[in-house]
Amino acid sequence: MAKTAELIVDGKTYKFPLVEGTENETAIDIGNLLEEAGLITLDLGYKNTGATKSAITFLDGDKGILRYRGYSIEELAASSNFLEVAYLLIFGELPTTDQYKKFSDDIKKHTMVHEDTRKILDGFPSSSHPMGVLASMFCAQTAFYPESLDPNRSSEAVYLSIIRSLAKMPTFAAWAYKNAMGHPVNYPDNSLDYCARFMKMMYALPAEQYEIDPVVADALDKLLILHADHEQNCSTSTVRIVGSSKASIYSSISAGINALWGPLHGGANQEVILMLEQIKKDGGDTDKWIAKAKDKNSGFRLMGFGHRVYKNFDPRAKIIKKAADDVLKKLGVNDPVLEIALKLEEVALRDSYFIERKLYPNVDFYSGIIYRALGIPVDMFTVMFAMGRLPGWIAQWKELRENKEPIGRPRQIYTGQNLRPYVAIKKR
Ligand code: MLT
Repeated sequence: MAKTAELIVDGKTYKFPLVEGTENETAIDIGNLLEEAGLITLDLGYKNTGATKSAITFLDGDKGILRYRGYSIEELAASSNFLEVAYLLIFGELPTTDQYKKFSDDIKKHTMVHEDTRKILDGFPSSSHPMGVLASMFCAQTAFYPESLDPNRSSEAVYLSIIRSLAKMPTFAAWAYKNAMGHPVNYPDNSLDYCARFMKMMYALPAEQYEIDPVVADALDKLLILHADHEQNCSTSTVRIVGSSKASIYSSISAGINALWGPLHGGANQEVILMLEQIKKDGGDTDKWIAKAKDKNSGFRLMGFGHRVYKNFDPRAKIIKKAADDVLKKLGVNDPVLEIALKLEEVALRDSYFIERKLYPNVDFYSGIIYRALGIPVDMFTVMFAMGRLPGWIAQWKELRENKEPIGRPRQIYTGQNLRPYVAIKKR
């Protein structure tokens, strides 16, 4: 007998089925609520609302669990690499050796972008934020690959769009950086792997024999794994709702990039460093700023602490913290801003004010520290997040299309004027 939930409104009882997931999460299926009871639900920010059923990522906010297709983030971060994780998220299983080689080779075939993309890039002043450049260049791919406008064209066409998206993201990201620097762009060197190829496009100067630092490339690869997917977060939900209208993968990803840009989402890692630099500029007195964070009237909020879903700790933060320690040691980085970060972390982890409010350092706190140590400029931090999240966006877009999910169309509670007559004014 299927379990049900009962809703009693004005003395009338309505029954709705309970839906249980493979990790025993339970939801009330209210798909017929409006039809049966003439009611809708209201849940600002959808914090209590499931938008879909998904087999891609499982997270448990209370236990600090994060798994991609059933594999723990700890094991994947320790033993896998970003391209293998991307394959796992998108196709549901880890690749065989042959599948991995074909996937990697297919990506290498498409790392170049249409040269006319340069004309679009040239239209952006160097003051442009790289996220705006990235979102625009992604959406522009619909112009170069118009067949992508039919997302259901064929599985081969969808695979090609997926490969093109993964292949060109590092090129677009590096070009957005070069545009901000006012430097000439570099073209992809396919003799290198994913992260090394990106680093060389970012930092190689004309006629320079750019040396890849394996410590940096490995740290980046781990960061991309940790950001690869995160269930129905803001930007992924954006990709899904845009994709639900049968928009192309490129326009859906472009929408996701724009949603990620916000300081409350992917922009948080940039806000962390800006906050640390503000504290440094003010003299580096962390106790003073901790006191401001506790003072509701100060208007100051510690960025990079706490999480909407994780109640006790962000599993990714634990992994990144170790990676940050390793990278700082290996690179011999001695940065006063990073010293301030470590002091804030030390207080937050022992101060009852932060412990009671679950304000522990999250993934954005540590990722900003690593990116800075890797020499990545602060307004490229969210671009790095987008590079990492791309396979998750692709996997979720692909899943909704394969599941033939309906167009997303939430309802509302109207709070405006009641009916009133139109009275024309004398216009002249
Ligand atoms: C993410 O990884 O997308 C962020 O932690 C935000 C979220 O999951 O809501």
